[in-house]
Amino acid sequence: MSEPLRPRFPARPVTALVPVLALLLLTLWAAPSSAAPPAPGAAPVDAAGPAATSPDGTLTLAVSASGGRLTYSVSRAGTLLVAPSDLGLRLTDGTVLGHDVAVTGHRTRAYDSTWQPVWGADAEVRDRYEELTVDLRQRDGRTFSVIVRAYDDGVALRYDVPEQPGLRSLRIADEATEFDLTGDPVAWWTPRDDNSDENPWRSTPLSAMGKSNAPVTFRRPDGIHLSVHEADLVDYAAMTVTPEDGSLRADLVPTPGRDAAVVTRAGRALPWRALTVAPDAAGLIESHLLENLNPPCRICGGDTSWIEPVKYVGIWWVMQQDQATWETGPRHGATTARAKRYIDFAAANGIEGLLAEGWNQGWEGDWGDQSFTRPTADFDLREVVSYARERGVEFIMHNETGANVENYEAQLDEAFTLYEDLGVNYVKTGYVGDIPGHNHYDQFMINHYRRVLEAAAEHRINVNCHECVHASGEMRTYPNAISREAVRGQEWDAFSEGNTPEHTLILPFTRGLSGPMDYTPGIMDILWDPQQLGRRVHTTVGKQLAYYVTYFSGLHMAADLPEHYRDAPGLGFIRDVPARWDRTEVLAAEVGDHLVTARRSGREWFTGAMTGEHARTLSYPLSFLGAGEWVAEAYTDAPDADYDTNPTALAVTRTLVTAADTFTADLGRSGGQAVRFRPATRADLTTLPRHTP
Ligand code: NOJ
Ligand code: CA
Repeated sequence: MSEPLRPRFPARPVTALVPVLALLLLTLWAAPSSAAPPAPGAAPVDAAGPAATSPDGTLTLAVSASGGRLTYSVSRAGTLLVAPSDLGLRLTDGTVLGHDVAVTGHRTRAYDSTWQPVWGADAEVRDRYEELTVDLRQRDGRTFSVIVRAYDDGVALRYDVPEQPGLRSLRIADEATEFDLTGDPVAWWTPRDDNSDENPWRSTPLSAMGKSNAPVTFRRPDGIHLSVHEADLVDYAAMTVTPEDGSLRADLVPTPGRDAAVVTRAGRALPWRALTVAPDAAGLIESHLLENLNPPCRICGGDTSWIEPVKYVGIWWVMQQDQATWETGPRHGATTARAKRYIDFAAANGIEGLLAEGWNQGWEGDWGDQSFTRPTADFDLREVVSYARERGVEFIMHNETGANVENYEAQLDEAFTLYEDLGVNYVKTGYVGDIPGHNHYDQFMINHYRRVLEAAAEHRINVNCHECVHASGEMRTYPNAISREAVRGQEWDAFSEGNTPEHTLILPFTRGLSGPMDYTPGIMDILWDPQQLGRRVHTTVGKQLAYYVTYFSGLHMAADLPEHYRDAPGLGFIRDVPARWDRTEVLAAEVGDHLVTARRSGREWFTGAMTGEHARTLSYPLSFLGAGEWVAEAYTDAPDADYDTNPTALAVTRTLVTAADTFTADLGRSGGQAVRFRPATRADLTTLPRHTP
């Protein structure tokens, strides 16, 4: 699918810039005679060098090679956000692409297009930016380019190294790319771990940050929020960030035993280094920057009806709580009978999918010797799949590799062919354990996860990858990347001290920015602790419901046991809330504190409001509603709800509202509210009370 180039806004007039340009050329290291003079339509040049400016004129990313040092800086409406920061690639031969360079040419182009994702937070996404390409030559003769883009909601840059004599392939030890954020903003970060994104989030000043996985999100004293991440992560190692000399450096995940973190061909553009920039926390969530930095859909040429977001139940929490086992035996969880019971529950409650972990042979031992085609003796795969289909429920395959990637790759074709024959459109993958010879996020594994996505697409399969590398906006290119873990999800409440109320309010502003997240919400029996280990879920029931709106995912689990939903008033909301959205608006947001999100699906709107460790009252105008009368079906923490002392107290109300009303969410600590807004019927108008603020 190609998108037309449609310049919508003129590049800044070059004539006015001639004096600055001349000055710049003078201050640059004497460029080789081949240095091209700026062509007509060349990029504007500010004091720092050629620059790209966002279509709305607020964000500018300027590149400089002053004195041979390649740097960039970012400013927003005249405020410097990123001070001149190094650019470059450290190669394994000890040289750095980016040292001792001169600009040989630069050019801009403007791009403006709107694309329609197969599914997403918004049915339409505008992709509008100014792009600047800066061509560079090193003193040693090697050439490369830095491509930068300025969008209204962020900036990004990437390297493009052409094939040239002596540089047919790139052996990159690490990057020299830095992010020298000005001031000392608050940072939300997770300790660097090349094999896991399941560590708790931390909040410190930038100056006290440790090495971190990406993304990292920042709040400046002036309220501007930034998030550092990467996009279009292909045939490369994942990026982490390391504090170095008062700045942050893009630090690549190494391949054990190899000097190069990345070995790749020259003649390609490397992943984007992206900076989402927003005037407030809400703007971070509304941004589509990371998706826009990925190429258009590669799998949308034909029928895409199989790529559909769904809610699902699973034979899962019962194992997380050790009340059944993945492996066969007297307590085996995935039996035909249990699967049918779960399917009946799903079908009765508008839940479209069933996951049955432990359906297959090979769970004994360290999980590394799995068969992805052979079911256990007590699980009749064909019977379960057809029982599900007859009831309109999708069967979600589970492939736990136990970190034996070789074994998985060997079976991939056969397994996916079988699933396609069965009509199965969803697979949850998993990589628990140490991967021999590899880090979970090294180049080989990045390529592996992509291979699985591509193979899955060929078989009409959507993938929910656990223990996977962080998302990086790839759902634009591969919308079958329907969800992903790369998060310390709710399962940690079952087998550890759990997730703090604050953790769950940091996720939407960090991990959540990069793509769909399989957090597995919907626990109604908050205090269920069958092993009596003092473990529990650290929210109210109201907040569990809010997650369906505040957290973005193409797969949303109703994670609890069917029997725990029997008397749960919250089940009504889980039944009604859709998995597919047309529009998203963030109504109130503060990282780590609170979030109110509104999403439209067809004619209906849904809101989710949630808070961290403090009880609070959040009010939000309903101006997003269209004209007319609406029914607000609200599931709110009861007045005495509190995640610690009274987590299941939920008030369910039905009232008439209009777009002129303001709604209130009175939330207990770690509490929440979830509301469905549907057009009122004539009967509603005569029977329901009017909302009183
Ligand atoms: C870890 C996954 O995150 C979890 O959801 C799954 O149940 C287990 N691995 C077993 O595969
Ligand atoms: Ca996990």
